[in-house]
Amino acid sequence: MSDLRNYSRKDFIKTTGALAGGAVLASPYMSKAANLFREKRKMALVGTGVRGISMFGRRVRDIYPDTVDLAAICDINPGRLRYAREYIGGNLPAYTNLEEMLREHKPDTLIVTSRDDVHHEHIITGMKMGCDIITEKPLTIDETRAQQILDAERKYGKKIIVTFNYRYPPYRAKIKELVMEGWVGKPTSVDFHWHIRHSHMMQYMQRWHGHRQFGGSLWVHKSTHHFDMVNWFINSDPVDVYANASLERFGKHGPFRGKNCRNCAFTDQCSYHWNINENTHLKGLYADNEQYDGYIRDNCVFRETIDIFEKHSAIVNYANGAILNYSFTADTEHEGYTLAINGTEGRIEVRAGGWPQKGHEDIIFMPNRRYSDREEQIITVEHGSGGHWGGDPIMNDQLFKDPDRPDPLGQQAGTRDGVMSILIGVAARKSVDSGNLIKIADLIDLTPTADRT
Ligand SMILES: NC(=O)c1ccc[n+]([C@@H]2O[C@H](COP(=O)([O-])OP(=O)(O)OC[C@H]3O[C@@H](n4cnc5c(N)ncnc54)[C@H](O)[C@@H]3O)[C@@H](O)[C@H]2O)c1
Repeated sequence: MSDLRNYSRKDFIKTTGALAGGAVLASPYMSKAANLFREKRKMALVGTGVRGISMFGRRVRDIYPDTVDLAAICDINPGRLRYAREYIGGNLPAYTNLEEMLREHKPDTLIVTSRDDVHHEHIITGMKMGCDIITEKPLTIDETRAQQILDAERKYGKKIIVTFNYRYPPYRAKIKELVMEGWVGKPTSVDFHWHIRHSHMMQYMQRWHGHRQFGGSLWVHKSTHHFDMVNWFINSDPVDVYANASLERFGKHGPFRGKNCRNCAFTDQCSYHWNINENTHLKGLYADNEQYDGYIRDNCVFRETIDIFEKHSAIVNYANGAILNYSFTADTEHEGYTLAINGTEGRIEVRAGGWPQKGHEDIIFMPNRRYSDREEQIITVEHGSGGHWGGDPIMNDQLFKDPDRPDPLGQQAGTRDGVMSILIGVAARKSVDSGNLIKIADLIDLTPTADRT
């Protein structure tokens, strides 16, 4: 994949030169007098997959034209880049070589939305070339890459923000606030059981996420969100991890297998059959561009090479003495979780998502009567509008509109948050493989702390 030449970059740039001026003149936003005097932050983006072009590409251009100048985009797949450029709009200069893009445009910030296993390369190159970084989760997929990122951050003195959008839904902010206000007292344990729809798990099995070498397994790719939530809620670093996991339905356990889903010989028999060509957007982004890099978006969920897990269970000890009991499974068609934070003075409990669907969450508070004067109560918090229960727009406003806005709950995540959350997953993976308890301090040069403030 990495030997792709700068396929049609020159064509893109040539076209861009002619069209971009027209686009700017035609923009309704530019007619606002205030914008003539406001300094915009210049950003560029690497990784033009579905996440990069929607959450950060098109939305940044559409919603934050007054504060952000999205200057250029990069991906190793020239066909996907071409699709992305059209989808995002603005005739952005497009590159297949990251350094070249950064050299020519000198952005203040690089947005990293590439595949998980190459985040570290893009983060380090970006910082080396003078950029602050906004990166998608997971920060990276193993402890070696994590250490490289930490070392580079120290060397280049740039800022890294990890986009943990799971911290931003209003009801999760409320939980954090309650813990910070001392409703549960000192956190002693957390029960956290997350289940994703079985059809959601199927999508992981179809893509690169099914291979540890690309996504670090779902222990890292997905659970980094969950572990970060716990680390953030209880404000402590993890110390050690013991885990179990298994793969029971997918991969080598399947009854048959084909090359990919859209034209498989077992289409009629397979309950996981999905035809990517029926989705114009995904076809244009992925299936139409396979010839450039061999990235198959609708791989067989029963391919023998899948080496991740579908059922996960871990026990995590924290520096502040709390214990996390965690599981992550996909045995239902409902997506949601139960979370309880227990402390010396009470318990906060939430059953979120799943069924029945509702436009709010109820946070149940139960005091420990021997130690708390508070009353039992249910605190109802409405969901916001926008992705992830209203969390995505709140996070994006902080990233792209008002980076200096007060952050009393510490929602914006940095490198340490990114590292500590992936390391729980990395340690869990190692624990499953070895049967041993894995210590976080053995993986990295950070010392786990009981109070992260
Ligand atoms: N926070 C969330 O809720 C959330 C949701 C979805 C995805 N994500 C994250 O966003 C990122 C992208 O996910 P996606 O679903 O769009 O994946 P994707 O596979 O659709 O896109 C990844 C892109 O990276 C490109 N790429 C791979 N190697 C590259 C390289 N060396 N140089 C440049 N580009 C390269 C691929 O060609 C592809 O276009 C992932 O890190 C994922 O974990 C986060």
